[in-house]
Amino acid sequence: MRSSVRFIRRGRIVELSAAEARMTLLDWLRLRDAAVGTKEGCAEGDCGACTVILARMKQGRVVHEPVNACILLAGQADGAEVLTVEDLSPTGAVHHPVQDAMLRLHGSQCGFCTPGIVMSLAAMHQDAPRPVSRQAVCDQLAGNLCRCTGYRPIVEAALEACAAPQPEVPAARGVALTALRDEAAIFAGNDAAFFAAPRREAELFDLLARYPDALVVAGATDAGLWLTKALIAAPRVIWLARVEGLDRIERTRTALSIGATATVADAARELGSLAPDLAEVIRRFGSTQVRASATVGGNIANASPIGDLAPCLIALGATLELAAGNATRTLPLEDFFVAYKKQDRRPGEIVRRISVPLPDVAMQFRAFKITKRMDEDISAVLGAFAFQVDGRRIASARVAFGGMAGIPARARTTEQRLLGLDLDAPPTWPPLLDCLAAEFKPLSDHRASAEYRSLVARNLLHKALLEIAGAPLSSTRIVTHVEAAHAGE
Ligand SMILES: Cc1cc2nc3c(=O)[nH]c(=O)nc-3n(C[C@H](O)[C@H](O)[C@H](O)COP(=O)(O)OP(=O)(O)OC[C@H]3O[C@@H](n4cnc5c(N)ncnc54)[C@H](O)[C@@H]3O)c2cc1C
Ligand code: FES
Ligand code: FES
Repeated sequence: MRSSVRFIRRGRIVELSAAEARMTLLDWLRLRDAAVGTKEGCAEGDCGACTVILARMKQGRVVHEPVNACILLAGQADGAEVLTVEDLSPTGAVHHPVQDAMLRLHGSQCGFCTPGIVMSLAAMHQDAPRPVSRQAVCDQLAGNLCRCTGYRPIVEAALEACAAPQPEVPAARGVALTALRDEAAIFAGNDAAFFAAPRREAELFDLLARYPDALVVAGATDAGLWLTKALIAAPRVIWLARVEGLDRIERTRTALSIGATATVADAARELGSLAPDLAEVIRRFGSTQVRASATVGGNIANASPIGDLAPCLIALGATLELAAGNATRTLPLEDFFVAYKKQDRRPGEIVRRISVPLPDVAMQFRAFKITKRMDEDISAVLGAFAFQVDGRRIASARVAFGGMAGIPARARTTEQRLLGLDLDAPPTWPPLLDCLAAEFKPLSDHRASAEYRSLVARNLLHKALLEIAGAPLSSTRIVTHVEAAHAGE
């Protein structure tokens, strides 16, 4: 058992007390480490001004991930090297290639966003396989707001810097990170106030039983905001990410199984391989920084009615494994969501893994995320559809929505009415589409009105059916074309 959090900072191992481990990483950097190059803009993961890089060993190699330091607890940096803008050019004499390109191509005006932008791009410069496309740069910058320069020179700077070959990772970094690894559970603090990171599930269940009021965090991309915006007091924190095996991603002949603490970034490739639309939803899930921290299990456990993964995974027929002590149970994912903020989760129980049956080749899957902004925005409505087609008729249908109710939910009446639908007879579809609109009573809020949500849901089902019936994508994927045109591709 370790009694402190440890990470590497400026070539030395830093040990954090329980109180420091529960600070945000941004506060720790600025207040304790005097690394004030890292800025605070929104304090909620949206603007990217606070972006720093966490370098970690993953599957035998060093990866450099940009994260939002404003919503990450300092304790979550355990086992990593924390890199800030100060580290890119320690003496100031020689700039990092990204800084150099930003300077020459006028990528900065007021400069408030610049350290965050430079850190996002430095991570890409280090880890992205070459060549780096304009679209990849735009995706990398989705979580970095710049209000005055405009993105053209920033994107140009990124492309120029990344035109050079991918640099070697400094050998000393891999050695230091490997030396830092251990198998110990962490318990920093005392009964009243602590930061704990169990290593085994049994230790986790023990902690949950002893401290039922503790704040449990995985990536803290939801929970971090409760600290910085709702200002909740959380003297006891249990971090899930060190529990061995809880992040495992496995593919069998029939299913993809994703451990709850796998990050959205780490699960992206396997999940995205199930269906192109799921890959696109994940590309637009938060930002690079958010996906690097956010976990698949956190997205499900938080049970937001507008979370992106739940409707997609429900349509794909996923099941959820919950565990407490020695007891394990499995349920269809949709049954986990009971009512707004009410899940079928017993005291002390955790989300352990999500299993998604591999779609057979005949399955037609569509998912559409509707947001006000294309990038870094939470869904107003997300519709996900999985159909089996027999001849030219729908043989089975699973239809799920986010944003249409207090929970992610299936449209069961519509699913029944879809059976036997003739794909060659679009004029006969309107009664079915009206049935969908009648099936939900969505809320009006700042994202969308109830009327808008109902109309959009109806139109998304219509769009999915048209595509499956054979309509050309050039008539249905208009936003994708506009986005590609902006990206210059
Ligand atoms: C800027 C920004 C953009 C975002 N964009 C999107 C988006 O586009 N789409 C989207 O769906 N979400 C989005 N989110 C929300 C968030 O990133 C996701 O919900 C994320 O998956 C949460 O995972 P986490 O690991 O960070 O959860 P945490 O914040 O660590 O935890 C959330 C809750 O789940 C509980 N929990 C976590 N893991 C488990 C587990 N294994 N068992 C039991 N309980 C658990 C925690 O106790 C807590 O109550 C965004 C968030 C931010 C800040
Ligand atoms: S300060 Fe805006 S993302 Fe962190
Ligand atoms: S340079 Fe001012 S916000 Fe980007």
